[in-house]
Amino acid sequence: MTFKTIIEPFRIKTVEPIRFTTREQRAVALREASYNLFLIRAEDVLIDLLTDSGTGAMSSAQWAGMMQGDESYAGARSFFRFESAVRDLTAYRHIIPTHQGRAAERILFASACTAGQVVPNNTHFDTTRANLEALGVTAVDLRCPEATQPALVAPFKGNIDLAALERCLTENRGRVPFAMVTITNNSGGGQPVSLANLQGAAAICRRHGVPLILDCCRFAENAWFIKQREPGQGHRTPREIARDLFACADGCTMSAKKDGLVNIGGFLALNDDALAARCRNNLILTEGFPTYGGLAGYDLEALAVGLKEVLDEDYLRYRVRSVEYLGERLTAAGVPIVQPPGGHAIYIDAKAMLPHIPATEYPAWALSCALYLEGGIRSVEIGSVMFGRQPDGTEKPAAMELVRLAFPRRVYTQSHVDYLLEVLLHVHGLRDRIRGVRLVEAPPLLRHFTAKVAPIGGDLLAP
Ligand code: F0G
Repeated sequence: MTFKTIIEPFRIKTVEPIRFTTREQRAVALREASYNLFLIRAEDVLIDLLTDSGTGAMSSAQWAGMMQGDESYAGARSFFRFESAVRDLTAYRHIIPTHQGRAAERILFASACTAGQVVPNNTHFDTTRANLEALGVTAVDLRCPEATQPALVAPFKGNIDLAALERCLTENRGRVPFAMVTITNNSGGGQPVSLANLQGAAAICRRHGVPLILDCCRFAENAWFIKQREPGQGHRTPREIARDLFACADGCTMSAKKDGLVNIGGFLALNDDALAARCRNNLILTEGFPTYGGLAGYDLEALAVGLKEVLDEDYLRYRVRSVEYLGERLTAAGVPIVQPPGGHAIYIDAKAMLPHIPATEYPAWALSCALYLEGGIRSVEIGSVMFGRQPDGTEKPAAMELVRLAFPRRVYTQSHVDYLLEVLLHVHGLRDRIRGVRLVEAPPLLRHFTAKVAPIGGDLLAP
């Protein structure tokens, strides 16, 4: 007899209380934070779905590993454990630890790019784009056509548009230091990239003599989707599939705060000897010696264990299923979400849910504030506040106005998800009363982190 209920594949050994707040308390907190959920105190949040980055729970094996951290400045045992875990997975020659993903990006970009160049990607994440633009490099998004239709159900909406990649490399011959593919495509809805698509991208890059770099934060979730959805892959293990993904590319940048199952950490891995040498020199300038890269020895131990645990099939099945469960129920109730549900998050389509709010009044930002006000849920806008400001200072609406509900790994249980569903349906019922917002104050780069915002017309909800 096999039972169909998929349970959390762990027992809870340590608990952390969450604090309940009233709607009145949250209204005050929201005003004091200038309607920016990044500026709210975490203590004032009931269910924190701001990000799946660094917010996961570590296993007892990871905590045990931490006790064995070797804190030597150079050549620590923990580095070699970490290096062998990453090499076993990726097979890349040079493994360079960094304190998180964006440090890997900055070091790679500063070592490989010059102003005036072009870097294509299926969709650049905000830090990736910002780190390229800060160097005067143009970040080009080449998402596949299905990716821009939120309601369309398709298996691999994270795919890069291969014809567009071919065109981009032809038109910019000599100006592309490398191409990137983000697995899963975070900004495009947490959607996976198929192995066939990545192999296609690799073939195009090879023909043009352009290296391919993976932004591989969520490689294990991507591998799981390939196992579930790609013809001929169902019998293979997530590790075998992940290895094939890495084999398509010449290197990767990794935020281990996602599928590394750690609270802090990342790495850059490369095959190119000369480029790796330049990266290590840049690493020493700002991150630290190449055998610790801004991390403690115990962080490297936890990461070495996390990279193995994340490929466990019971874990991946539960992980993807809990996101899908919320997605199914929202869809049944008529809440518009990006279909199908992504690996690490549900993305609400705020443009469809709040048609009365134009992009210039940031509907997804307004919706994320309403979810906090009504239910204490913290989400994040992935829309025109995050992506609308162009490098020349003009404003252009983002392709989609999304609210992302990102699931921390191994943290919340089924009843948390059921509560979440109840709040979401309640706010969906109030949708006609939600008002747009305006930016009161915002820095030029990565403005969503610190912008001050206000509802247009006083309160967030019209009476
Ligand atoms: N690339 C992708 C696809 C990401 O999702 C992130 C981080 C990064 C790079 C940067 O990594 O944060 O370790 O420096 N994403 C987090 C998120 C912040 O909430 O999606 P980092």
